[in-house]
Amino acid sequence: MVSSGRPRIVVTRTPPGAAIEMLEQVGDVWVWPEDNVIPAEVLGAKSAGAHALYSMLTDPIDAKLLSGAPQLQVVSNMAVGMDNIDIPACTERGIAVGHTPGVLADTVADTAIGLLLMGARRLVEGVDFVKSGRWGPWDPNLLWGRDVHSSTVGIIGLGGVGRAVARRLTGFNCRLVYWNRTRRLEVEADLGIEYVDLEDLLEQADHVIVAVALVDATHHLIDAAALERMRSTATLVNVSRGGTVDPHALAAALANGAIAAAALDVTEPEPISMDDPLLALPNCVIIPHLGSSSEGTRTAMAVMAAENLIAALEGRPMSASPNQHLLTS
Ligand code: DGY
Repeated sequence: MVSSGRPRIVVTRTPPGAAIEMLEQVGDVWVWPEDNVIPAEVLGAKSAGAHALYSMLTDPIDAKLLSGAPQLQVVSNMAVGMDNIDIPACTERGIAVGHTPGVLADTVADTAIGLLLMGARRLVEGVDFVKSGRWGPWDPNLLWGRDVHSSTVGIIGLGGVGRAVARRLTGFNCRLVYWNRTRRLEVEADLGIEYVDLEDLLEQADHVIVAVALVDATHHLIDAAALERMRSTATLVNVSRGGTVDPHALAAALANGAIAAAALDVTEPEPISMDDPLLALPNCVIIPHLGSSSEGTRTAMAVMAAENLIAALEGRPMSASPNQHLLTS
């Protein structure tokens, strides 16, 4: 798609594996040299002459940045989530957007199950109990949790991650219900999962797992009213984006017993502020956005994002894109 010369590719943070070598085969590559988030002004300045951006989920790719990048043809995000990218603004300017679903679904689903067990069975409270020297003789009443096996689990969002979570929970003998903006009839029988309204899901589920993409319609989907509908014994797990859950409402619900526990891979904002009330609650487990963080998966995401970027520069379809029609029409 670049008419003459080698395309200029800006990479906002060093990705794992062979991604940079792959990009260097096709263009002149500039990589933000520091191991932190590229400052907005540097990203803006570097994008000005770029044909392609290889971005992280921490980089806001908004209309302002795009208007200062007249030659930009592709934004390839090393993430499944694209809430950092103004997709309509990209599409309007003919800029193809790529992302990395699929390769991370199983790893994020593993994380979701781990979080569910940590929250429902109070495992982190148990760790703290031992480390603080409170462990005495075996106690029949110590730190009772709530069972995951044989429970009803509600999955919000039945994309790749939601489906991978459902497959795992079949082995826990769970009853599975889901809510998705679009009903996924084609996978219901296969996964043994039943579609219900969001309100019904919140009321019926012993545990709720949020795996839905963050878009305007899902911002604070789990708000005070939603938490109020949930069972007082329920665990809320979030492996999507922090913005799908209202953090103030969640802190109140955990403090007043409206729900029993939360286990979060993601928060709003990230990183969480050290004076956030959620951090002071024993029934809230928080890990630092590690959902897809295994060596194999992060490397596969990096390679997939490089392949997407190269495909778009060469005018070929990407393996996953919300505006693929730009490359196929
Ligand atoms: C993604 O790819 O969107 C995940 O949140 C990364 O862990």
